[in-house]
Amino acid sequence: MRQDSGGRLTRDGIRIHDPSESAGMMAAGALAARILDDVAGLVEVGQTTGVLDDFIRNAVEEAGATSATIGYKGYQHASCISVNHVVCHGIPGDKKLKDGDILNIDVTVIVDGWFGDTSRMYVAGKLPRRAERLIQVTHDALMIGIEAVKPGNTFGDIGHAIQSHVESNRMSVVRDFCGHGLGRVFHAPPNVLHYGRPGGGPTLEEGMFFTIEPMVNLGRPETKVLADEWTAVTRDKSLSAQFEHSVGVTADGVEIFTLSPGGLFHPTYTTD
Ligand code: MF3
Ligand code: CO
Ligand code: CO
Repeated sequence: MRQDSGGRLTRDGIRIHDPSESAGMMAAGALAARILDDVAGLVEVGQTTGVLDDFIRNAVEEAGATSATIGYKGYQHASCISVNHVVCHGIPGDKKLKDGDILNIDVTVIVDGWFGDTSRMYVAGKLPRRAERLIQVTHDALMIGIEAVKPGNTFGDIGHAIQSHVESNRMSVVRDFCGHGLGRVFHAPPNVLHYGRPGGGPTLEEGMFFTIEPMVNLGRPETKVLADEWTAVTRDKSLSAQFEHSVGVTADGVEIFTLSPGGLFHPTYTTD
């Protein structure tokens, strides 16, 4: 197995990549994002999450890429699909989507050894108004977090920006799961918290690659993992949403590796 080559590690164990290495991340991120674009047409009332996962598995294979999740700690699927009060790591299966269900689809692919990890929200049928608000606030929280990414800022600045936006909308940030460094590995230092204090945590440096993937609940932040040992749900059964991008710190800001080629990152939907 080829190891990370260019760059060095910070004292927090965060890899600093060579500028030339962002091309690999762009290719991996673009594939993951394109697959999330392509699966959108299959999300409809009566569809099963298992069929969505089959489509994703095939799309990864047709691209000549590898799914990062199949075989990861025993996980068996090409995506995580988290419906309604499922916070993350929902397992695709036979359950049919109902009118007004909201779902996160999370895909991670490996292209030439580089990992691309992204997720976004979808809707089956007509979107209830409170779910629309949740999705909008979660999307905006991610993008506001990304705006805080530049050399000299800190991971605490990112978390603080996300937390402030969510809590000012009277929603809550999940503490039990976080973003992560990635590159030639799936989950690397640091833990990217979606809450924090300005100036807290490690300082951002050019060449850091990581995900930002806030999970936001309409109710309380607490989660629990079901007996299948994967599915994380809100303890109070409130609705939960998540968006995820893989990003890199550049000399003067940020590059997003997982931009939607079709401009479909934010869902389009009809509301009641
Ligand atoms: N893609 C998820 C993340 O954002 C990880 C999924 S691991 C799995 O980090 F095994 F549940 F697929
Ligand atoms: Co991730
Ligand atoms: Co992910």
